[in-house]
Amino acid sequence: MVSEPYGSFSSKDAVVCRGVGKTWAEGTPRAHEALRGIDLDVKPGEFIVLLGPSGCGKSTLLYLIAGLEQQSKGHIWSFGDPAEGPSPDRSLIFQETSLFPWLNVWQNVSFGLSIRGAPLEERRAVAKEALARVGLVEAMEKRPDELSGGMRQRVAVARALAMRPKVLLMDEPFAALDVQTRAKMQDFLLDVWRDSGASVLFVTHHIDEAVALADRVVVFTARPGRIKTIIPIDLPRPRNPFSPECEKLRMQLTEEMRSEVDRAFAEQEALVPA
Ligand SMILES: Nc1ncnc2c1ncn2[C@@H]1O[C@H](COP(=O)(O)OP(=O)(O)O)[C@@H](O)[C@H]1O
Ligand SMILES: [Mg+2]
Repeated sequence: MVSEPYGSFSSKDAVVCRGVGKTWAEGTPRAHEALRGIDLDVKPGEFIVLLGPSGCGKSTLLYLIAGLEQQSKGHIWSFGDPAEGPSPDRSLIFQETSLFPWLNVWQNVSFGLSIRGAPLEERRAVAKEALARVGLVEAMEKRPDELSGGMRQRVAVARALAMRPKVLLMDEPFAALDVQTRAKMQDFLLDVWRDSGASVLFVTHHIDEAVALADRVVVFTARPGRIKTIIPIDLPRPRNPFSPECEKLRMQLTEEMRSEVDRAFAEQEALVPA
């Protein structure tokens, strides 16, 4: 246990944020506060959904946890270590996958291992295993442009899994997919998550997605993003979106989001000269 001044938390926790704030371009006239006072503890194997209006700092928080950006205030730990730089333990998946078009699927999946200097046979074996977990072994030799959008996102998930991360950071990973594909990808992600034992922090602005996936939904305020409330969802999966419980959660989350979306909208309007 680590205690004051940060408030006690377990060094076994997958992610711990204490008083985390981020001001972009700090100290310049363009300074822009994106996040303020974020306190969050994520347990190993927990599925957290970060829900909030566009521009409230959800992506910013993922970049900080990924160690790709430095917070302006506060502290972030992952399994007891400061999250000060990128680590293979924490993989980030974006909305638009950036697969290398000149590499085939398995070479894309094992790209991180090639940077580490792993030999070809090991890379191929790890890629094959990761692709098996996303149901895409048959596509090993294909090029990214031969795949559908859903398949490309599965390759991106396989690439993240190949590094055996303890924390999967997912930034609206299914936002560019059609509704049917997205529902399939959610089911698929729940299977992968269960097998991997990793913690997931999943960003979305879709309430349905939050209700389908989360152990806990972290609702953000409009910018500067703060945690407005955290709603636990103690329902077995797969969840029936038409059940009264899911309906009630959707109403609750819609209510929590409504005023924040209005505020975010007002701010964006104010930025546009009349
Ligand atoms: N690299 C950056 N430099 C300056 N401002 C940024 C940068 N990235 C994001 N922002 C700003 O920070 C705020 C939060 O952005 P972001 O984290 O992308 O929000 P969300 O993911 O919730 O839509 C926005 O006002 C955005 O314009
Ligand atoms: Mg974002």
